[in-house]
Amino acid sequence: MKMIPITIEKSTHLKAKPDVNTLGFGKYFTDHMLTAKFTTQKGWFDAGIRPYKPFEIDPGASVLHYGQALFEGMKAFRQKNGKIVLFRPEFNWKRMVAGADRLCMEAPPEDLFLNGIKELVKIDKDWIPEQPGSLYIRPTLIGTEAFLGVRPSEEILFFAILSPVSSYYAEGASAINIWVETEYLRAAPGGLGATKAGANYASSLKAALEAKKKGYAQVLWLDYSREHIEEVGTMNVFFVFENEIVTPSLDGTILSGGVRRSVIDLLKSWNLPIVERKLKISEVIAAKNKGTLKEAFGTGTAAVITPIQELASKDWKIKLSANGQKGELSQRIYDELVGIQYGHIEDKLGWLQEL
Ligand code: COI
Repeated sequence: MKMIPITIEKSTHLKAKPDVNTLGFGKYFTDHMLTAKFTTQKGWFDAGIRPYKPFEIDPGASVLHYGQALFEGMKAFRQKNGKIVLFRPEFNWKRMVAGADRLCMEAPPEDLFLNGIKELVKIDKDWIPEQPGSLYIRPTLIGTEAFLGVRPSEEILFFAILSPVSSYYAEGASAINIWVETEYLRAAPGGLGATKAGANYASSLKAALEAKKKGYAQVLWLDYSREHIEEVGTMNVFFVFENEIVTPSLDGTILSGGVRRSVIDLLKSWNLPIVERKLKISEVIAAKNKGTLKEAFGTGTAAVITPIQELASKDWKIKLSANGQKGELSQRIYDELVGIQYGHIEDKLGWLQEL
């Protein structure tokens, strides 16, 4: 297949870089962005790395009316020996392809996605903070055709922007408190739950806001029956029981996270009993009461490994860790994952791609 040429236009006005102690998550953007256009007539064209600036978009564009928007979350790391690496970028490309199919959009071909992002990160490499920071990469796909009939957009814009980040949650790497949501629903069978559609995040805002008012950092979503655990929205979840480690199986309503996949692979390589299956919230509460629930944690590109301190809902509350501490297994996984990402531990599972 023909490779899509990517032009490079360097910015002549480089921005001042933020103080690494103020990074937080997603507040600052680098000097350049990657953009490429698609039309059903022309295919992919006009791919380039350009100075970061606002887009001009037609007010009739389909994304603004019918929400054809899909994104990814990836990271680049500056390793201790100076190498710059991307974490499992092909995983994100494949997930974008699957999501684009569900949203009836054309996905960027692999070479445009991977080479475009690598070139972009190279150009803005001075923005990559040292450990514990990283460069968050946000590839995004939107429908841009100006047309108000409800049908798939015949014009697509693919873009990627970069943001130097530290931790996602205000709690930093400490354990967070999570509200188990029993009123609002994130996804139903046949819906968009397995895609990284912007719509999933829009629909989660109300529940997250209400949880925040009650003092909870995030929401744990249940399935349509309000019985089974799904995910947190910003991360997948794992529960460590006495005899097994369980993460909800991917039944079409849960996002298939790259860090989720990596943690499963890591636990398997350690010969630990990791099981992907349906998990009832009642089972978690019963295990806590019996003393067989050891710890729980979330996994995500932004969230990394985030331990869960407390789970609560309308009429119950369980404590899983004291004083924001990580459980023993969460700590071991965190150390291994982060150790591999920053080059302190050998990448035996082949997760990293060097620039
Ligand atoms: C990620 O972890 O990359 C996410 O997309 C979660 C959130 C910041 C939307």
